[in-house]
Amino acid sequence: MGRLDRCVSVEDFRQLARRRLPKSVFEFVDGGAGQELTLRDNRAGFERIRLLPRVLTDVSRPDLTTTLWSRTYPTPLVISPMGSCALVRPGADIAIASAAAARGIPYTLSTMATTGIERMARAVQGPLWFQLYVLKDFDFNRRLVRRAEEFGYSALVVTVDLQTGGKREKDLRNGISIPLRPSLRHLVEGIAHPAWSLRLLRGGLPRFENVRGYLGDTSAGLTIAARVGRNLHAGFDWNDFRSIRDWWKGPLIVKGVLHPDDAARLIAEGADGIWVSNHGGRQLDGAVSSIDAIGPVHAAVGDGVPVLIDSGIHTGMDVIKAKARGAMASAIGRAALFGAVAGRAGVERVLDILLDGIATGLKLSGVPSFHEIGPDLIAPSG
Ligand SMILES: Cc1cc2nc3c(=O)[nH]c(=O)nc-3n(C[C@H](O)[C@H](O)[C@H](O)COP(=O)(O)O)c2cc1C
Repeated sequence: MGRLDRCVSVEDFRQLARRRLPKSVFEFVDGGAGQELTLRDNRAGFERIRLLPRVLTDVSRPDLTTTLWSRTYPTPLVISPMGSCALVRPGADIAIASAAAARGIPYTLSTMATTGIERMARAVQGPLWFQLYVLKDFDFNRRLVRRAEEFGYSALVVTVDLQTGGKREKDLRNGISIPLRPSLRHLVEGIAHPAWSLRLLRGGLPRFENVRGYLGDTSAGLTIAARVGRNLHAGFDWNDFRSIRDWWKGPLIVKGVLHPDDAARLIAEGADGIWVSNHGGRQLDGAVSSIDAIGPVHAAVGDGVPVLIDSGIHTGMDVIKAKARGAMASAIGRAALFGAVAGRAGVERVLDILLDGIATGLKLSGVPSFHEIGPDLIAPSG
């Protein structure tokens, strides 16, 4: 039995990441904002739900397919956009994207990715989506969107919940910043994790490839969240949204929506889908958990509009519970990045654990097809 085979859950990969990464890097990925109230609620929300399964339903061939904007995907999983992935391991984003591509899972490339739009498109054959952070320079946004279109990205995800960087207290304590400012603490952590350090030295310091030259003023040693936040357009409003809608002809999904009224208005203003998310508990501490927010959002936009979810998904059962509350697809952030600590093979293992979990969950719930899961699967008390 290989070392990776002994990891049988996302939590096992989280523990692997905890051992293999320097503490500052692990906490940057794993941590949340403020007191981590929302981070904890994201898990607690899923853990509270109980199911009422059916029997004698012929589940011999579980069907995991899901259809989004008239395209049928083999699974209901999506990879959430993540910046700074190369801090975990050089090439982590390509490892995640290629493992996802091999399973037909869409990979969402972040504006703040450590691999550029062009390079990712050349490296990966599967479905690629592009996530836009709306930067202050509106023309720069338009150029990013154009590049994504030119290189064949099939959906645009506009993230709207980073009006400013969330206060990540762990990052402040650990002095994790962009540019990296090595301190004695980091040196000691690096020496204690030689494999990680050697890879970083060989791979070169991580860079935000899509916004090279844009972030300016790199002198202040801000945390990553603060640096990104400072460059985003805090004045972003409905007029700006309409411009972005005009630039992009394909499916446009808005990520970071929790309020049902916002969801309804976004659809009325031309969005094609809503991605319910609290940024994995990394932004507004105290925000409602995604699994508690999704029901009202789904009700507000109706059955015809694809609603996606992320924040706290660790098991196949979470994906099933999310569908019962209205999520056509579930996206994973940290789960994929924890897998990437062990390279592409680690990500493949994480994805297969989740897909096996969904297939087993469908069978044991007595539902032959993912798309048939509805609110009646949730026990009245859950
Ligand atoms: C290291 C890291 C970097 C992230 N960077 C981005 C980003 O660049 N853009 C974005 O929209 N969300 C970003 N997020 C949030 C994720 O897209 C996603 O909403 C969140 O991770 C989902 O929660 P989960 O990690 O519990 O699955 C990031 C999350 C992490 C952990």
